[in-house]
Amino acid sequence: MSQAFPNFVYLVAGVLFMYVLKGLSHPRKAVRANQLGAAGMTLAIVVTIAVAVSSPDIHGIGYVLIAAGIVIGSVIGATFAIRVPMTSMPQMVGLLNGFGGGASMMVASGDLIASGSHSTPFLAGSTMVAGLIGTVTFFGSLVAAGKLQELKWVPSGNVIPRQQLVNLSLTIVCFGLAAWAVYNPAVTIWVFWPMCLLAAVLGVLSTTPIGGADMPVVICLLNAYSGMAAAATGFVLNNNVLIIAGALVGSSGIILCQIMCKAMNRSLVNVLFGTLGPAEGSATADEVYAGKVKSASADEVAMLFDNARRVVIVPGYGLAVAQAQHAVRDLTNLLESRGVEVEFGIHPVAGRMPGHMNVLLAEANIPYEKVREMDDINPTFEQTDVAVVIGANDVVNPVARTDPKSPIAGMPILDVDKARTVVVVKRSLSPGFAGIPNPLFAADNTLMYFGDGKKAIVDLITAVKES
Ligand code: TAP
Repeated sequence: MSQAFPNFVYLVAGVLFMYVLKGLSHPRKAVRANQLGAAGMTLAIVVTIAVAVSSPDIHGIGYVLIAAGIVIGSVIGATFAIRVPMTSMPQMVGLLNGFGGGASMMVASGDLIASGSHSTPFLAGSTMVAGLIGTVTFFGSLVAAGKLQELKWVPSGNVIPRQQLVNLSLTIVCFGLAAWAVYNPAVTIWVFWPMCLLAAVLGVLSTTPIGGADMPVVICLLNAYSGMAAAATGFVLNNNVLIIAGALVGSSGIILCQIMCKAMNRSLVNVLFGTLGPAEGSATADEVYAGKVKSASADEVAMLFDNARRVVIVPGYGLAVAQAQHAVRDLTNLLESRGVEVEFGIHPVAGRMPGHMNVLLAEANIPYEKVREMDDINPTFEQTDVAVVIGANDVVNPVARTDPKSPIAGMPILDVDKARTVVVVKRSLSPGFAGIPNPLFAADNTLMYFGDGKKAIVDLITAVKES
């Protein structure tokens, strides 16, 4: 088959992938964008298989074996996608990144074995980069997914003395071996395997020390790595669609990491090498809460809505844990039927993955126009009668504005404390991801409505109906 037709199809697929990235930035277009992306990927796969099977170099791999791989992979993928709960999505994405990295490494190594060794510095360099990044991604992603799943046997923290120094040394040796292969392509077949072994150790050791709750950023970084590994493999195979898709995944992953770090007011270096927790000299939970917290029952909260004209609901990680999104939609409908204006305020890092809250609210069919981003909703809190915070903590913690020593100092927050009354729905006074007390819970205008997010909202609906 001539290369012109496959290249044209790859170009079409590449354009569709770019459209996906644009479409995914808005919830209204996201589903259609995803479908177009799947169509682009199907086109790319079909053409690649057609090219491969018609090639004389295919060495005994025919349609049957490829079809069997596709069927087995599709069944496993679809089963996971259907069964995995939303709260476990970050580890699911982590595993998928890992498989992507592992596949790139294996394809590059398969090509190396088939050709004996490489003849050009470019091919040798591409193979080494695909092997290095792919292996780091595979092993790092397995550790990251295991930590997010809270598997006890997955190593966590520094597991050997001077781990950062060891990681630095491993990185230097791996790049040294890659540089040697570029300088002398004939040695690629000999240095590739030791480099992959060292890269496997590097993948594990560079992920174990990172705090479990920082894992979403790391997963995102590993996602970017898997894209880079795929692009390098694309150069090895001279496959344009792999280069385009890999470059898009790599660059969008890096941009997403930057967005997440900015929304947490932290640098990537701090996420990868720093620690997060209460800073010395910051107020303790006792100092913040003792004697100042007022709790309210469902009936008391329901009474607040009697005179309210505007209510803003702020969801956080606890909404996902409680799966309270459908109950929240019912409360919204009920309040609107009584003439109350209801909107949602979304913080960019609420929950545990980008867009976590948007996905949950969309699942409950809450209209997109009611869901407003932080910068958009913040100026409206002063005109808000009741702000209802459901399972959110750090993203509404005013300490970010007031305590420069706090681990969330400088992080932009949702200004719920400026509303006339704040109702916080959570089970206890436990801290959120950053591990620090929240003075909002002890503020004069705050009422704590303790309980599991879903049950609390269901009880509140009953109370509103009876009031
Ligand atoms: P958090 O600050 O983590 O607080 C979640 C709160 O939910 C907890 O205080 C918990 O309190 C409550 N909760 C848990 N289960 C609940 C349930 N069943 N019912 C009701 N409440 C429940 O969440 P947030 O405000 O969404 O902030 C997200 C944090 O994650 C930020 O610090 C952010 O930097 C970090 N982070 C986010 C991302 C992304 S991309 N979203 C990535 C990395 C890190 P109780 O135990 O008392 O109920």
